Amino acid sequence: MFPPGAGPAADPVGGRHERAIRSFQPRRSRVTTGQHAALLRLWPRWGLEIDGRARLDPATLFDGLPVVLEIGFGMGEATAEMAAADPGTGILAADVHTPGQGNLLRLAERDGLTNVRVANGDAVILLREMLPPASLAGMRIFFPDPWPKKRHHKRRIIQPEFVELAAARLAPGAVLHCATDWEPYAEWMLEVLTASESFTNAAPAGHGGFAPRPPHRPLTRFERQGLAKGHLVRDLLFRRA
Ligand SMILES: C[S@@+](CC[C@H](N)C(=O)[O-])C[C@H]1O[C@@H](n2cnc3c(N)ncnc32)[C@H](O)[C@@H]1O
Repeated sequence: MFPPGAGPAADPVGGRHERAIRSFQPRRSRVTTGQHAALLRLWPRWGLEIDGRARLDPATLFDGLPVVLEIGFGMGEATAEMAAADPGTGILAADVHTPGQGNLLRLAERDGLTNVRVANGDAVILLREMLPPASLAGMRIFFPDPWPKKRHHKRRIIQPEFVELAAARLAPGAVLHCATDWEPYAEWMLEVLTASESFTNAAPAGHGGFAPRPPHRPLTRFERQGLAKGHLVRDLLFRRA
C-alpha cells in the first residue's frame, strides 16, 4: 500500500508470527484518501514500526516528557483529545489498524500536537521486546476487544501474564487505566488485576473495586457504541506498586 519506509508496514513483525494467540483480528481495512495522504506525509516523522528488534527509550521520544502507552486507540479521536488536554505528557499510541493510524496522524497535525507518536503492530511485542523496564509513566487500554465467546477468552489482552509484563514496564506509582463496556470482561479485569501483587487498586472505596470515570478520559468511539446499546461502562485504575 505504501512504498517501503513511507508508511506503516502492512504486516509488521509485531502483527504477524510472534504470538499464536493475538488480541486483535488481522483485517484488511480501507484507508480513505485523507488517511492515506496523512500516512504518507507524517509517518516518516511520527510513525514507529513495532518490529520486535529496535530498542526504544520512551524518554527520547518527546524530549524527556513522561510517556504513557495507549494500547488500541482505534480511530484515535480520544487519543488526540487527551494529548491536547495534557501537552506535558507524551502519548505512545499503538494499534494495528491502518485507517486509525492515518486518522490519528491527521488529527495530530490538524491540532498542532507534538506529543503523539503512532506505533504500528502488536503492543505486546512493543512491551516485551522493545521497551526498557520501568520506562512508562502510565498505560491506557480503553475498550479492548471483549472476545465474548468462551473459546476466544484466551485472546483477551488482559491476562495474568500480560499484567506482569505491563507491571515490569511501568515506573513505580504509574497507573494502568482500563475501561470496558463488557461486564464479564470488567469482572475478569478486576479479578486478574486484583490478584497481581504488582498493583494496588487506586479506585476509591465504595464502587465495588471499579473507579468512577476519571474526567481526563474522553468518550471513545467504542464507548459511544456500547452506551447506545445500554451497556454499563467500567473504569479500572491500578497503581504500580
Ligand atoms: C474495540 S477497539 C477500541 C478502540 C478505542 N480504544 C475506542 O475505545 O474507541 C480495540 C482496538 O484495539 C486494537 N488492538 C487489539 N489488540 C492490540 C494489540 N495487541 N496491540 C495493538 N492494538 C491492539 C484493535 O486493533 C482495535 O483497534
